Amino acid sequence: MTNTIKNIAVFASGGGSNAQKIFEHFQHHTSVKVALVVCNKEGAHVIERAKKFGIPVLMINKTFFQNEKEFLAALQPHKIDFIVLAGFLWLIPPYLIRAFPNKMVNIHPALLPKYGGKGMHGHFVHEAIYKNKEKESGISIHFVNEIYDSGEIIFQAKCAVEGLNPEEIAAEVLKLEHLHFAKEIEKLLC
Ligand code: GRF
Repeated sequence: MTNTIKNIAVFASGGGSNAQKIFEHFQHHTSVKVALVVCNKEGAHVIERAKKFGIPVLMINKTFFQNEKEFLAALQPHKIDFIVLAGFLWLIPPYLIRAFPNKMVNIHPALLPKYGGKGMHGHFVHEAIYKNKEKESGISIHFVNEIYDSGEIIFQAKCAVEGLNPEEIAAEVLKLEHLHFAKEIEKLLC
């Protein structure tokens, strides 16, 4: 019988609250499995979260990540079909994008193409939104290409941020991420 399970690798560098939602969403899924977490930061909270779900974690450094042969060989046993970037800050090397054409998505905490690009991540995004007195912000889920935050947008959701401080904006945006990311991944895969 052919294996119809789609294996996801979640790449995350930090707290991993989005990763956690994805683990929960697919925990008992019949056709999608989170098969691997890739992490570039020792001690990142996402590592503990993955362990609780019994998901293997591959720790990487920049040299290893840039090494096409070695990195793809490390993914190989996990038979990865799809990559999800959930708070992963490194630029994805071209070889990996070529290996997963339209099979890699990222979530960005703003309404791209505004507030995207190198350096526009985490609190920097929310502070810029605040400074510019934006009335709304939101999330963008997009395919990953070789330029930060510029791949095709798959899904966006908005929230009102008028009168909110950067922390409050971040909290509103995170709520949207937690609500939509796993569901949108599922739509792409099922
Ligand atoms: C999220 O805001 C996401 O948009 C961005 O990184 C953050 C990750 O948060 N790409 P967490 O680690 O999932 O809590």
